Amino acid sequence: MRITTYREGPFIDREKEEQFILTRLKHRPEKILFIYGPKSSGKTTLMEYMVENILEKDKNFYVNYVNFRGYAIANYKDFLDIYFQPIRQENKTWLAKIAELLPLRLGLFKGTASLPVKGINFGINIELYNQLQNNEIDPFVLLMDILSNIKTKRQPILILDEIQTLKDIYMNGEIQKKHLLTEFFNFLVRLTKETHIAHVIVMTSETLFMEDIYNHSKLSKTSDFFLIDHLDQKAIQTWFEQEGIYEPDMFELIREYCGGAIFDWLTPFYLLKNNKVQQVRDYLTHQAETYMGKIDHFIAEKLHGLDQKRMFKDILKTLLKQNYIIRDSENELQTRVLNRAIEYEFLFLNPKRKEIIFNSQIIKKGAELYFEII
Ligand SMILES: Nc1ncnc2c1ncn2[C@@H]1O[C@H](COP(=O)(O)OP(=O)(O)OP(=O)(O)O)[C@@H](O)[C@H]1O
Ligand SMILES: [Mg+2]
Repeated sequence: MRITTYREGPFIDREKEEQFILTRLKHRPEKILFIYGPKSSGKTTLMEYMVENILEKDKNFYVNYVNFRGYAIANYKDFLDIYFQPIRQENKTWLAKIAELLPLRLGLFKGTASLPVKGINFGINIELYNQLQNNEIDPFVLLMDILSNIKTKRQPILILDEIQTLKDIYMNGEIQKKHLLTEFFNFLVRLTKETHIAHVIVMTSETLFMEDIYNHSKLSKTSDFFLIDHLDQKAIQTWFEQEGIYEPDMFELIREYCGGAIFDWLTPFYLLKNNKVQQVRDYLTHQAETYMGKIDHFIAEKLHGLDQKRMFKDILKTLLKQNYIIRDSENELQTRVLNRAIEYEFLFLNPKRKEIIFNSQIIKKGAELYFEII
């Protein structure tokens, strides 16, 4: 099992997941790959690790990775600015970054696009840029042209994280207002299933959004769904052993509070590394109490009426007993309360298995405490 350093911290395992993704990238693009998993399971970290350490170093690939969380996207123009930048002579620092120029064969339009050495926005000549801003050109036609151009030399890979950020945005246009995300997904289907030009990997931290995609008639047929789950105990134990801090009782204590949620293991790990063994238990109980407080606040402020509050408490009790719950679609009250708890990130819905579980073990501990104290 691999344990390495990434961004000055530990990067544990994920070899199987990495192999799965790499194998897929070696074949012809056929379907969109959606990556899903519990909150903070490590979806973004794995992809960023792979982009920096494998994909960008491979000359056979052209990688375009956008994490939409990194941008304030209020409207369609903001979206365009992520992908396109005008080639202006005065923009010298940016021009210096251009790696290669591509001639475009855009039906009615002629122009030039460029690939930046680093960064994700394509440079386009100012006429094209203006036409794009004036809604005379469909950005997806332009992107298709650029990517098919790149494809003659390298395999393009589009990676999109936090794509739900675009869900309320409409494209500007005279004829009708088109929903940006619908058009974007049509384009992604075209890139994969229809033209096989680019690999497409899509991630989101919003479970309900992923469920909509999973059940979307067109997208579900043209996509695969891959789970990045919490890490397994073996991997975490090996990490502790390699770091020389493995001690069965202490490990068991942290496991009881953190399960496989790597994010929750990090602070106990640093405490042990700094010989602050006595602080670990306090830290863990404090974390569980914090979640207990959040659950209490959620019930008091975010659920309405006794029915919803009772329903949520029943859901928690069921989850504490059997670890998962299946949504009863005929039970409107239960569906509403479950969806709210998913939105607030207490619960995770696995769209494939239809199971709802706690997003992490520490939330489960918080729920246990809630019933002990109330
Ligand atoms: N394999 C790993 N080894 C060590 N630390 C990791 C690993 N994967 C993730 N982490 C750490 O866990 C935290 C959460 O990871 P990340 O943000 O990638 O999760 P995510 O699944 O993308 O979350 P979200 O559901 O919010 O999108 C980060 O601090 C990251 O450094
Ligand atoms: Mg993420």
